[in-house]
Amino acid sequence: MQPPWHLLFFLIAAVQAIDYDLDNPESIKSACQSVAQQMLTHYTGNLPGDNPGNLPDPYYWWEAGAMFNALIEYWFLTGDTSYNNLTMQGLTWQAGSSGTFMPANQTRTEGNDDQGFWAFAAMSAAERNFPDPPSSSSDNSPTPGWLAMAQAVFNTQAARWDDSTCSGGLRWQIFTWNNGYNYKNTISNGCFFNLAARLAKYTGNQTYADWATKVWDWTREVGFMTDEYRFWDGADDRNGCAEYNHIEWTYNSGVYLLGAAAMFNFTESPTWKAHTQGIINASSVFFEDDVMYERACEPINTCEVDQRSFKGYLARWMAATTQMAPFTFDTIMPKLRASAQAAAATCTGGARQSTCGLEWTSRKWDGMDDVGIQMAALEVLQSTLISRVDPPVTQDTGGTSRGNPGGGDASPPPPKVPEGLRIRIDTADRAGAGILTAVMSFVVIGSTGWMVYE
Ligand SMILES: *[C@@H]1O[C@H](CO)[C@@H](O)[C@H](O)[C@H]1NC(C)=O
Ligand SMILES: *[C@@H]1O[C@H](CO)[C@@H](O)[C@H](O)[C@H]1NC(C)=O
Ligand SMILES: *[C@@H]1O[C@H](CO)[C@@H](O)[C@H](O)[C@H]1NC(C)=O
Ligand SMILES: *[C@@H]1O[C@H](CO)[C@@H](O)[C@H](O)[C@H]1NC(C)=O
Ligand SMILES: *[C@@H]1O[C@H](CO)[C@@H](O)[C@H](O)[C@H]1NC(C)=O
Repeated sequence: MQPPWHLLFFLIAAVQAIDYDLDNPESIKSACQSVAQQMLTHYTGNLPGDNPGNLPDPYYWWEAGAMFNALIEYWFLTGDTSYNNLTMQGLTWQAGSSGTFMPANQTRTEGNDDQGFWAFAAMSAAERNFPDPPSSSSDNSPTPGWLAMAQAVFNTQAARWDDSTCSGGLRWQIFTWNNGYNYKNTISNGCFFNLAARLAKYTGNQTYADWATKVWDWTREVGFMTDEYRFWDGADDRNGCAEYNHIEWTYNSGVYLLGAAAMFNFTESPTWKAHTQGIINASSVFFEDDVMYERACEPINTCEVDQRSFKGYLARWMAATTQMAPFTFDTIMPKLRASAQAAAATCTGGARQSTCGLEWTSRKWDGMDDVGIQMAALEVLQSTLISRVDPPVTQDTGGTSRGNPGGGDASPPPPKVPEGLRIRIDTADRAGAGILTAVMSFVVIGSTGWMVYE
């Protein structure tokens, strides 16, 4: 009997993924190009009459900031300048004249973590010498450079450090009237830590390093980070942060990892080296045969909009860690390469076979077309180019971004909020939406005793 060759051929053709050959940088770049292009089919902020720097529903404001950071890295790693203009436009529009990324439109929902993700895009722009924004606006008033934006966000967050509960820490929400103001969370503090550490490295200013140490120590003391370098999501401050929300997300490990690596690079201290190594070790819970997965939601199919992007940040920050702390290279790269190869195998969707799936471990497209999924795939695919590019610049090694250490008006007056807006808004409306899943799901996953509970 003849084997059903035609059927076999059909099956192979149907699951054809983008070409992604780890040993061929041109293949990697062209895969990244296709995946980025597909991601940007969702973005219209650069079109006339649209609002620069916003993604349409259901994507929250912070995810656009994360996307521009992915695109800065994309440009640096692949050399493709196609999206530089829309990145510049979106970032400068949302940064505002103060550079703090606190546009009035977002005051109903803006958390410290949301602001942090935008600041990361500015910080990466400075570290990569991304083309500078214009130095003045159309009315000739001076506008902040990338470094000044990162510093402005740092200044606003340092001023928000809150000793009144839990012996310190940043709250999740910035404004008192928002739901989540009583939650102190790991990602908000992790963003502040990461930003401070990178500012210390870039500027050489010890004040930033002192803040990074302070945030790290607090995270450990309050118990959001364990002795084994695992990270819980956060805790309610009304009972002194005594009851942790034990859910674990890839991005929390990632955000502390790169901060620790930057502190190691800045101080060259064995303590920070051990911290860096320790976080890498502990993050092995997020890998299955070296392929990254979002363990808190993928196995039970509950990953929400925000969460679908999280793996991308761990990939981005692992890659950056190999530059800040080159001793980690041999441990990190096999994981990034295996994850990238698996992620590429999910990119079989859409007309151009470049729409990717959420679960890299399945190596299959899941029928979704989602910015977060696409961004995470882009981040991991491009991360394997990291050894081919220069490490981040600093002020002493060619960094040219305009700074302003005093920028950002550390204590801005509270914005005027109409009475009607003082509502308890949907808690899902922010980067820290991890808590929503945590509160709703009381689950025990898997065979390794991985518990997730509120
Ligand atoms: C980006 O903007 C500059 C200045 O407006 C323009 O000259 C250039 O053609 C634009 N590049 C792309 C790729 O659109
Ligand atoms: C705020 O919303 C208005 C109205 O939609 C829009 O014109 C403006 O560009 C928005 N501002 C920012 C910074 O997105
Ligand atoms: C990390 O793992 C390596 C290899 O298993 C081990 O030798 C090392 O002590 C660990 N380091 C930390 C800080 O946990
Ligand atoms: C700090 O980073 C630079 C740039 O990647 C690297 O050359 C240097 O080895 C790093 N320092 C340490 C102590 O790892
Ligand atoms: C260092 O950073 C601190 C905190 O932002 C700032 O007050 C100080 O002016 C900076 N020092 C220099 C020399 O830039």
